[in-house]
Amino acid sequence: MLNGETGLEGHKRAAAERALELVRPGMVVGLGTGTTARYFIEGLGKLVGRGLQVKAVVTSSDSRRRAEACGIPLAERLRGLLDLTVDGADEISPSLDCIKGRGGALLREKIVAHASRRFVLIADHSKVVDHLGRGPVPVEVLPFLWERTAEAIAALPGSPELRLAPDGPFRTDNGNLVLDVRFSAVDQALGSRLHEIPGVIEHGLFFRLAQAAIVAGPSGTRVLGELG
Ligand code: 5RP
Repeated sequence: MLNGETGLEGHKRAAAERALELVRPGMVVGLGTGTTARYFIEGLGKLVGRGLQVKAVVTSSDSRRRAEACGIPLAERLRGLLDLTVDGADEISPSLDCIKGRGGALLREKIVAHASRRFVLIADHSKVVDHLGRGPVPVEVLPFLWERTAEAIAALPGSPELRLAPDGPFRTDNGNLVLDVRFSAVDQALGSRLHEIPGVIEHGLFFRLAQAAIVAGPSGTRVLGELG
């Protein structure tokens, strides 16, 4: 742990450092978004600086800025699959389902996770839950008639709240809005019902996408699932 780093930040860094061990020369690597993924990007940048040859695909403008600042070569187009994607999560269940998107990058994160041979979550121990749904599920919606989309989500039933930025509604990198929705129960059927609502672009429920989660806490770093 670096000087001045809080416990939680040290755990995020430890999880990211373990994930860096999975990177091999020649890989196409997906870079997640958020405060945990940031440690992975910075660590990968250091490896690239020492001569590691990889290409990366970013999931947000924030991760792009960070990757470019570290000198990581970026792939703008993709044919076939990425070798490995490493990303954070807001909640991780024992079966490796997760909620993502509190950083607002859920759509691109899901596209990249889905396009990856291996999708590995990195997190501090506070993210592990018995059941998904401790907090809200982020849902990216089209700005057009978004209030009607929110009403349809409320009828599921759920309690949507428009995400705000200091200067107005929060906008994703895709120009869309985010509704943070509380549900009494979260399961795969809920994900399908959300997709049936016109105006819903994507939701932050990631079912059966991750093969492993690297979770770091006060007693060390553990792996849920198989790193492969
Ligand atoms: C961004 C995400 C993040 O990965 C998630 O919110 C976790 O972020 P952090 O590592 O900052 O806790 O899904 O859309």
